[in-house]
Amino acid sequence: MTKIRAKISGIQGWAPPYILTNKELESMVDTSDEWITSRTGIKERHIQKGEGLGTSDMGAEAVRRLLEKTHTSPDEIDLLICATVTPDMMFPATANLISYKTGINNAFSFDMNAACSGLMFAIITATRYIESGASRKVIVVGADKMSSITDYTNRETCILFGDAAGAMLLEPTTEEVGIMDSIFGTDGSGFPYLHMKAGGSLKPPSHETVDAKEHFIFQEGQSVFKFAVTKMADVSVEIMKKNNLTSKDVSWLVPHQANLRIIDATARRMGINKDQVMINIQRYGNTTGATIPLCLWEWEDQLKKGDNIILAAFGGGFTWGSVWLKWAYDPS
Ligand code: UT7
Repeated sequence: MTKIRAKISGIQGWAPPYILTNKELESMVDTSDEWITSRTGIKERHIQKGEGLGTSDMGAEAVRRLLEKTHTSPDEIDLLICATVTPDMMFPATANLISYKTGINNAFSFDMNAACSGLMFAIITATRYIESGASRKVIVVGADKMSSITDYTNRETCILFGDAAGAMLLEPTTEEVGIMDSIFGTDGSGFPYLHMKAGGSLKPPSHETVDAKEHFIFQEGQSVFKFAVTKMADVSVEIMKKNNLTSKDVSWLVPHQANLRIIDATARRMGINKDQVMINIQRYGNTTGATIPLCLWEWEDQLKKGDNIILAAFGGGFTWGSVWLKWAYDPS
């Protein structure tokens, strides 16, 4: 029987217009453009400004443009998954709100929370729905308004994050393209190093939690760095070995954009040249669920059908994963 695979048949990004530069951050906390650039690679990040706007609004912008670009009617979509750690509300799911705002009425929708690896977890979930024949047109959205959980008086975290959304359309194919293989892992013992202390069932919101700034990202940067640099490289090398791929076979590495030093270390371990690595961290910072689709979107016109692409991510949880895919279409 012919194998049904899931292929990415369209990709779209969206970032809000306001740009927060390192220079502006210098006026907010005790930091410098030199420190931020040399330690992280980040120069600027986009921030969603304005009352009444949340993650779903960015996701909906990306989805609207994706539908238009791929000539897809909202009615054709049968599943929408949103990877986010900054949902509009605890419930309902931000995915439902994105579907509602974009006229996707024939689908079921749900959110996925795997922090910075969330988009990858969502891709592989969508893949299983397509491979099984349960779904035919699935949209995966990675969207995060990281500014809503960032403490702009804390120099250790406020320099890192930005707001953005990315969306991809996945469809079945019987060709030798699409999602070929994946490896994923989680380790809950990593939670002390990267989390939000309050607002959940363990520590519901109170005046005390607000005063203690417990509704912001808490990160022990160095500890997370050590895990990230090892795990992201390990899982990327592992998927190459498992599928007998050499660095010559790989056209592109698409790494989660958390820190340029983590990206460089991963590429080095894989034996991949820097010009085959998608890097836009300098303009967006860490947008959590949106980093990987933003890269694929910006590089879309350089991708050719059959290109071997490795996606790699590491995030809070801890969570990590790699996906090997063959790009499914040539530039238009
Ligand atoms: O995407 C989810 C996963 N997250 C990650 O992968 C993030 C992983 N971690 C990192 O990327 C890095 O650890 C950071 C970029 C967060 C920090 O870089 P680092 O090289 O690990 O710096 P550090 O935390 O060891 O701090 C070094 C020094 C400290 O000063 P002292 O104690 O040596 O005097 C910090 O107080 O740099 C200081 N520092 C800063 N200085 C200027 C920390 N933040 C800043 C800042 N500006 N913004």
